[in-house]
Amino acid sequence: MTSNPSKGTGTLIQERRASPTTLRRVPDTSLRDQLGGVFAMRNDQVGFLSRMIDTYGDIVRIRVLGIKMIMLNNPDYFERVLVRNHENYDKNTFLFRAVEPILRGGLIGNVGGEPWRRQRRIMQPSFHRPQVAGFAQNMSDETSRMLRRWDREYKSGDVVNVSTELGQLAMRIVFRSLFGADVGSRGDAIEEMFLEANQIVGAFFRFPFPPLSFPTKGHRRLNEIIRTMDGFISDVIRKRLDSDEEHHDLLTALMNAVDDETGTGMTPLQLHREVLNIIIGGYETTSNSVAWLVYLVGQHPEVQERLHAEVDSVLGGRAPTFDDVPRLTYTRMIVDETLRLYTPAWQTMRRANEEDEIGGYRIPAKSDIYLNMFTLHRHPDFWPSPDTFDPERFTPGQIARRPRHAYIPFASGPRNCIGKHFALTELTIILAMIAQAYRVEIPEDRRSVEIEPLITMHPKGGIHTRMERR
Ligand code: HEM
Repeated sequence: MTSNPSKGTGTLIQERRASPTTLRRVPDTSLRDQLGGVFAMRNDQVGFLSRMIDTYGDIVRIRVLGIKMIMLNNPDYFERVLVRNHENYDKNTFLFRAVEPILRGGLIGNVGGEPWRRQRRIMQPSFHRPQVAGFAQNMSDETSRMLRRWDREYKSGDVVNVSTELGQLAMRIVFRSLFGADVGSRGDAIEEMFLEANQIVGAFFRFPFPPLSFPTKGHRRLNEIIRTMDGFISDVIRKRLDSDEEHHDLLTALMNAVDDETGTGMTPLQLHREVLNIIIGGYETTSNSVAWLVYLVGQHPEVQERLHAEVDSVLGGRAPTFDDVPRLTYTRMIVDETLRLYTPAWQTMRRANEEDEIGGYRIPAKSDIYLNMFTLHRHPDFWPSPDTFDPERFTPGQIARRPRHAYIPFASGPRNCIGKHFALTELTIILAMIAQAYRVEIPEDRRSVEIEPLITMHPKGGIHTRMERR
């Protein structure tokens, strides 16, 4: 899909760092592409961006509705921004400023520097291995509950809208991990609101005008949704602060968490914002991934056979625990390949504070950098037949042959995803449990599913599969 005129491996590019006088200027798109981009971004955002990479190479200056950005599409370039020179890059960019009224300084959109570092120090321990091990029980319990309900509600061979089902499951898992039993039935209503909010914000990013603060019908609805979410989170936190009961969930961990360096914890307002950020970061991403997982397994019977063989031999009919996850190696390869093809958090941005050099190109200070993981994960120099689903790409031997930053569904460096282990555990457990119970088949008329790039990468129209009991 995307060609790569400016090829190179990480080490080569580091060694060949040009002297400041020989730095090249980042290529600009033609006027025709700039004008065409306005409409193309609205109708076929990913197609347009891929075309720009094909035409200009792995680094190109794009302009959409007057917003200038330098788009990168090379593992080394990503590594430079996210890892090697990460101190130079923050999130003071159009993308995060636009969603500031939603994220409000929580971890995801926090500009960076010491305020972000402090928050991350406080929150990181709540996402360590022993904590994720505890959440794994929620993942397996909730998946069991869903499968028992499917048993009652569907006949073997029925076609199921798995996007809806798995969206509800992902929401229940994140809520139960955060709030234990305190959620009640409000989760499903909130999930529907999330879908709606995603459509509104997704449309905004395709055509970012008027700003979200301008009261169009959609933007007013978005505000209403934010207020409802805020009310819900405030209720749960207030109830918890007033209660003497002992709880063992993420909310309790975050309420008690303190910064090792200062000995202080979060204010109730910060806590509120971080809870919202965790819901936003943790629900949409996993919900879409798990729907794509089922879709891809259903499309590839030979992969499904091997998946069944693995879950049968590793689990022998019992529900998976956290300790089983590393033994489900093929299941994990399917998860990795799915996160490559349909990488949920498919785009992000950074701003260069000082001038930098990337791959011999001059990056002027204050440049907005656009990072698109969807095109990176299909870069033909690193992924032969990039559009083909092939879990074998994730054998240890294959992984070792690629630059590390050719595959970064959870980003990389200090601002990588705090929920990475949570998510990988969740996806592995859900896929294994579905495979234990069902054989998935995609009905003829549901085989071709287009991507819908919203905040996360959605399957347009949802995934529908025929579920045969095994
Ligand atoms: C398949 C699932 C997931 C994917 C693909 C994913 C991907 C990402 C990516 C790419 C980033 C970096 C964004 C950027 O640099 O702009 C990120 C950040 C973040 N994610 Fe995830 N995520 C997933 C699941 C989760 C889960 C389950 C949680 C929480 C339970 C979570 C919470 C967060 C938070 C709070 C951040 C901000 C971290 C920081 O800046 O310090 N994510 N995620």
